[in-house]
Amino acid sequence: MPKGIYYFTEGFLWGTATAAHQVEGRNQNNTWYAWEQEEGRILNGDKSGLACDWWGGRWREDFDRAYEANQNAHRLSIAWSRIQPTPDRWDEGALDRYREMLKRLRERNMAPMVTLHHFSEPLWVAEMGGWENEAVVDLFARFVKKSVEALEPFCDLWITINEPNVYMYSAYLEGVFPPGKRSLKAALRVMDHLIRAHARAYHVIHEIQPEARVGVALHYRGFKPATWLPVDRWTAGVYNTLFNDLFPRTLKDGVFNAICKKHRISDAVGTQDFVGLNYYSSDRVRFDLFAPGKIFGHRSYPDGASLSESGFIANLPEGMIECVKWGSQFGLPMIITENGVEDSEDTLRPQYLLEHLYALWQIINDNYLVKGYFHWSLVDNFEWERGWTQRFGLWGLDVETQARIRRPSADLYAEICGLNGISAEVVETYAPDALKVLFP
Ligand code: BGC
Repeated sequence: MPKGIYYFTEGFLWGTATAAHQVEGRNQNNTWYAWEQEEGRILNGDKSGLACDWWGGRWREDFDRAYEANQNAHRLSIAWSRIQPTPDRWDEGALDRYREMLKRLRERNMAPMVTLHHFSEPLWVAEMGGWENEAVVDLFARFVKKSVEALEPFCDLWITINEPNVYMYSAYLEGVFPPGKRSLKAALRVMDHLIRAHARAYHVIHEIQPEARVGVALHYRGFKPATWLPVDRWTAGVYNTLFNDLFPRTLKDGVFNAICKKHRISDAVGTQDFVGLNYYSSDRVRFDLFAPGKIFGHRSYPDGASLSESGFIANLPEGMIECVKWGSQFGLPMIITENGVEDSEDTLRPQYLLEHLYALWQIINDNYLVKGYFHWSLVDNFEWERGWTQRFGLWGLDVETQARIRRPSADLYAEICGLNGISAEVVETYAPDALKVLFP
């Protein structure tokens, strides 16, 4: 049996990530609640309902779980729809609750990272045209100001917007997120506003809290052409440009370059203190002019890749290395803000987790500056248009009874966080199949 430990750097952040609408429950004032009420929008007609009942107070027990499992950080999001239920009203009670959550994390010596927009808005914002309406940039900046003023005693690590690329793609190209549009024109308009809103938020936060570290959680996917055909290579290039590069490149050089639409957004330059990276999997891309809402391409996983329960994610840890290399072009420290797999039986997760963390360790050892890792997710939660059909938690959730079910991966991750490294013993205990990858 091989021996050895792959240590991570001192002070490495180890946590899990969650998002308000997915865990809080009982929110009837946001775009996702309305979407859930429409027939055919969510798989099986599932509803978020109580979700993980965090609004009812169960965040306390879940934070205890994370703390006892040696996590030293947690990424959560706050709901704009709760804090500003109508355009002319701030709900101080909602802010108090979020303050309380952050305070409790601090008391447990867990560094909070707060996301200010994670896929949902108040209904009144949607009624004015949502992110297609330029006015949203100012409105978002006001919401950020109010929230950061209230929460800054307890947090200095901020994500302005979660996955602006997934939001644009799912809500305005594929049409599976509200408002369910399929229009490249609308998608690019929304992306432009998301970039401007991010840049405004960046400055608003720094005015309130000069020492703040502000970033975006970018969803990176490796897109490779499925064949040598030039059209497939072109399609992979389109995906890389519109999905991976558009948002962060605009923050780097001030040029919004969406192939068919190019202009300057100078205010966006330099508005990141770190690069947040969400990495789950990578795709092979084939040209298909008629792929609906798919930017001329059809995506699939490589033959033979091991797939998650519903086939949503392929275990491709080499993509983690590509992701970090790609993220390093911005010349800033990086944090893995999400990574995980849906797996109710916890059969693939231990191997997926170990192989992705090993890939991360390798790239850090090549002197790429990555300062933390947040696993998606702490507890099973409401998976957007896929409802409750996918289970990403280290802890399972019985939605009816609210019982939490500890999966072996919760213990595996606790060992890694506690050691600040991956030992051969841990690999052998939790995923012996991964030994040949980690300790060949
Ligand atoms: C999102 C999460 C989501 C996860 C798994 C990410 O794209 O940020 O909200 O739950 O993927 O589907």
